[in-house]
Amino acid sequence: MIGSIINGNVINTSSNSLTVRNPYNDDVVAEIALAANNELEQAVNGAFDTFHNTMKEMPAHTRSDILRKTADLMEERAEEFAETIMKEAGKPIFFSRGEVQRSIQVLRFASEEAKHISGEVVPMDAAIDGDGRLGLVKHVPLGVIAAITPFNFPLNLSLHKIAPAIAAGNTVIFKPAENTPVSAYKLTKLFHEAGLPDGVLNLLMGEGEIGEKLVTHDKVHKISFTGSLPVGRSIKESAGFKDVTLELGSNSPNIIFDDGDIDEAVTKLVKGAFAFSGQVCISAQRIYVQKPVYDNFLKEYIKATEELTIGNPASEETDIGPMISEEEAERAKKWIDDAAENGAIVAAGGQRNGTMLQPTIMTDVKSNMKIIAEEVFAPIVSVIPFDTEDDVVSYANDSIYGLQAGVFTNNIDRAFRVADKLEMGGVWINEISTYRQDNHPYGGVKQSGVGKEGVKYAVEGMTERKFIGLKLKE
Ligand code: SIN
Repeated sequence: MIGSIINGNVINTSSNSLTVRNPYNDDVVAEIALAANNELEQAVNGAFDTFHNTMKEMPAHTRSDILRKTADLMEERAEEFAETIMKEAGKPIFFSRGEVQRSIQVLRFASEEAKHISGEVVPMDAAIDGDGRLGLVKHVPLGVIAAITPFNFPLNLSLHKIAPAIAAGNTVIFKPAENTPVSAYKLTKLFHEAGLPDGVLNLLMGEGEIGEKLVTHDKVHKISFTGSLPVGRSIKESAGFKDVTLELGSNSPNIIFDDGDIDEAVTKLVKGAFAFSGQVCISAQRIYVQKPVYDNFLKEYIKATEELTIGNPASEETDIGPMISEEEAERAKKWIDDAAENGAIVAAGGQRNGTMLQPTIMTDVKSNMKIIAEEVFAPIVSVIPFDTEDDVVSYANDSIYGLQAGVFTNNIDRAFRVADKLEMGGVWINEISTYRQDNHPYGGVKQSGVGKEGVKYAVEGMTERKFIGLKLKE
């Protein structure tokens, strides 16, 4: 049995527990002791006191060293972390390894960033009466950050919150997704092994109710959440004066113009739509193809999709593993069936067996179908023809979401024109929407979220500007 880690102590007994199972074969991965209310209080009070007693005084070079040491330790145990992700999330081992490498890099970026949190000098004499005054702006930590994290990148998306929070000098309450608590447990242990003082990072095992209590707790200063739109909306409504960063959903568009590199688009979009069974916020969900190249693109895309290897995530050969739960796979299959009953065509895939849903390509879709209008979060993509640049920009923008988009064209003017017109947090040219580097700003507009991640930008969001003024004596 494993459990929460509060002020450095593992709490591995509880009246309430949870079994984590491998979504591919239902094998038991771990038994988890869930936190009770009094443990939530201990964790928040511990994080609050540690912020005031320890973290506020910890110099940047020490925070940087701890983050670097954690990266080094993770590098030594990379395979163990990859296997943990593969088992608890069902993520194919190749992609699990990729996630661990990205996580190591996030820790290293955060280690560097800790040493570059600076401030500014305000030109006080620009104002009437400002002569003889000095104004400084310091970036100071916020206090206790609640990091509420999803199952789809259980290590890396947790680190996108925890590492910047520590780099900036905050303390953290870490509430991982119920499906993927084992990597969270190992990560918290690793930080302690790297020298992080007790109470700086507190892991709370629990279900939605724990998250809700953190959102309204007086001693929590900020909520950083990645997950669904309904939960994000309710966090925003309940958070009151607390700062929030919300990384929510998307139905990411990818646009292929007739002068784009079709072969490259096919190869990349097979990964972009189906990697980790489409359970990625920026997964390619809508592919718009200009009419002269539509038939050719579709033919090649179906062929490449049908060549994917579906099966056990433990196998080196596997491209597509299970979805996170049977319930989710059933939900996604129903969306396919609803669309098909209303005139859409299943051009590839479409079948489900337990948690396994085939990579599915839909055509002849309508903009009000769920597979287009809502976040599908499953291996389902729609391919849609278009005529003109103006048409495709309006189709792509016809969404409540705006996280990332991909545009394939060899016309540089068009590339930047379209990038400017797309209502998105980020646009990739000659790259898929699903591509993300961990050091660029990442976060959506519209209902895709609030605030930015990407280590430097997350650090910014985990500090506030404090003004210090001095009236110089004459
Ligand atoms: C996400 O699903 O929001 C994150 C995607 C990524 O980090 O690659």
